[in-house]
Amino acid sequence: MRQSSLVVVANRLPIDDSVAPDGACEWRRSPGGLVSALHPLLRHAPATWVGWAGGTGPAPNLPDVDGVRMRTVPLDQDDLRDHYEGFANATLWPLYHDSVEQPQHHRRWWEAYQRVNQRFAEATAEVAEPGAVVWVQDYHLHLVPGMLRAIRPDLRIGFFLHVPFPPPELFMQLPRRAELLRGMLGADLVGFQRAQAAHNFAQLVAKVLDLPATDRRIGIDGRVVRIGAFPVSIDTAEMAALAARPDVAARARRLRQDLGSPEHVILSVDRMDYTKGIEQRLKAYSELLVSGHVKVRDTVLVQVAVPSRERVGQYQILRERVEREVGRINGEFGRVGEPAIHYLTQPFDRAELAALYRVADVMAVTPLRDGMNLVAKEYVAARVDDAGALLLSEFAGAAAELPQAYLVNPHDLEGLKQGLLESLHAAPADVRARMRAMRAHLHEHDIRAWARSYLRALDETGALVDRLT
Ligand code: UDP
Ligand code: G6P
Repeated sequence: MRQSSLVVVANRLPIDDSVAPDGACEWRRSPGGLVSALHPLLRHAPATWVGWAGGTGPAPNLPDVDGVRMRTVPLDQDDLRDHYEGFANATLWPLYHDSVEQPQHHRRWWEAYQRVNQRFAEATAEVAEPGAVVWVQDYHLHLVPGMLRAIRPDLRIGFFLHVPFPPPELFMQLPRRAELLRGMLGADLVGFQRAQAAHNFAQLVAKVLDLPATDRRIGIDGRVVRIGAFPVSIDTAEMAALAARPDVAARARRLRQDLGSPEHVILSVDRMDYTKGIEQRLKAYSELLVSGHVKVRDTVLVQVAVPSRERVGQYQILRERVEREVGRINGEFGRVGEPAIHYLTQPFDRAELAALYRVADVMAVTPLRDGMNLVAKEYVAARVDDAGALLLSEFAGAAAELPQAYLVNPHDLEGLKQGLLESLHAAPADVRARMRAMRAHLHEHDIRAWARSYLRALDETGALVDRLT
């Protein structure tokens, strides 16, 4: 088994085993922000990525992806149901997102979570060279740092959580709260998106495990675990270059024509997830159509909603509700050749997304809760013309870094409607000034800056940072 000096461990590999419309198996880029963030960063790095390739068959032997070695970890039907769909996405995901849907608890799910985490830890131990840096990602793998340290105490282990980490009163509901915290403390550095999350973690460790903890350091078993906030980002320059390509600009012009050359295009791009505030946004838009503040001939809404976690009940219910509402709104307000909402569920590639971003006069990113939201950052990076208004939820991690966005509380329907109208009718000079400030921020705080700051904190020798960035 070949070994690497840097090992990234995430439930998702950057490619996913999907089934094509003709039933054939095909490899596609995996969905979601974690892969969007890590994939450009690791390209051609001396790294191995340990993860699940989708599906429930035996682990396929994957070729390198852009020079990065893939080490697949298999999940069988029970693991998929109880670990991925159960404990990760029906217990932790809703709990970590303010319980906007009710988290569910089943003892069988916990068994599977432990079992799968152990499998990830063992696969990682095999591919990490002596003294390697191992970077464990996200809520599917809270136990891996502790399990890995037990097998390979020589490794430098980091953990990063891409989603919010909840306040103590929510986390305390978890039946196995102590084990989860202890698992994370197997790392040398535990990173979060926001300082508030690091604070929540320190409070919980002090309360549940009775350990000495500040917002920066925790002492356990004679070791010091550092904690901190490292807001994740995007490859800003790459997105800007893509959006500036003549073929992408031409595609954007064509899209505008295909949309009927309206005065205003509003765009939203989400995984179909109840945390993204899709229903609230549709309600706000529908009420603006009813009151006549928005007219279908002048304004169109393009809603991309890529299906996600499709066997989890809460996701199935959401999709049905969203599709019923889109149908109702289009039936009531659309005309032949002029739908009120262009509703699209197929995933788009980077170039098509960049073209869509360039068409959007208003980008509506209004999650009820989101760790960061990279779509918001991608939109800003793509607006190389400094035009376009970002309507952004206060409850997205991105809001802390992009205060120049038009900020809204998506739980407040009237506020959401006001925000939509304000961003639709903002003065071009105001829009430009805000966009310029946000673009400058993202050019400085891009994905490489994120990796540098995290790996510097983790690997004090700095050797890896130089090879990666
Ligand atoms: N995305 C994509 N194609 C699509 C829709 C989304 O590639 O059709 C990407 C999008 O560009 C972004 C990521 O999926 O990089 C979504 O990340 P975000 O942080 O916004 O949300 P998450 O899905 O991780 O909750
Ligand atoms: C979020 C999570 C990621 C996850 C992604 C897509 O970004 O933080 O860990 O990979 O959503 O979700 P999925 O369930 O398809 O992996």
